[in-house]
Amino acid sequence: MSKKPSPLIIILCILCGITISILLAVVAVQFVRTPPPAGTVDPMRLNQSEFRQLGLIPTTPRHYILRLVAKEWFFDVGQTRDAPASITIPQHSTVTLITTSMDVVHSLQIPGNPIMMIIPGKIQQQTIVFDTPRTYTIVCGVYCGPKHTQMQLTIVVTPAK
Ligand code: CUA
Repeated sequence: MSKKPSPLIIILCILCGITISILLAVVAVQFVRTPPPAGTVDPMRLNQSEFRQLGLIPTTPRHYILRLVAKEWFFDVGQTRDAPASITIPQHSTVTLITTSMDVVHSLQIPGNPIMMIIPGKIQQQTIVFDTPRTYTIVCGVYCGPKHTQMQLTIVVTPAK
């Protein structure tokens, strides 16, 4: 005759199963919502890639490319590190964000848009139309080390004249 497992063990197993399922679901949702990478880049040779020029680059009227490199612990848009990164665009601008990471996995989430995972070696691209004048404060959504909470990007959308 085999010994029946105690009810406590059964409850612990069920709780463990539920916890693991929730964690897997959270991770899956983050990755599923991230569009596939637009390409690859060597994180050690970013200065020999398109990421040697960072920041906001106007292409056509009200259309910009924003090239950004995430690193411990700031979003580099070609500005000094003294203040959090900030860009200003007029209302109804279309911005194509092109990002990569220099070190570990970071992320960006612009409200109303899919999470952008920023992964070393991968080029992530997303085009966003900013129709509403407002200030977006965007933080890093993946724990990336002691100063993770300091990673911040501000996008100021000014009213159309
Ligand atoms: Cu970068 Cu958290």
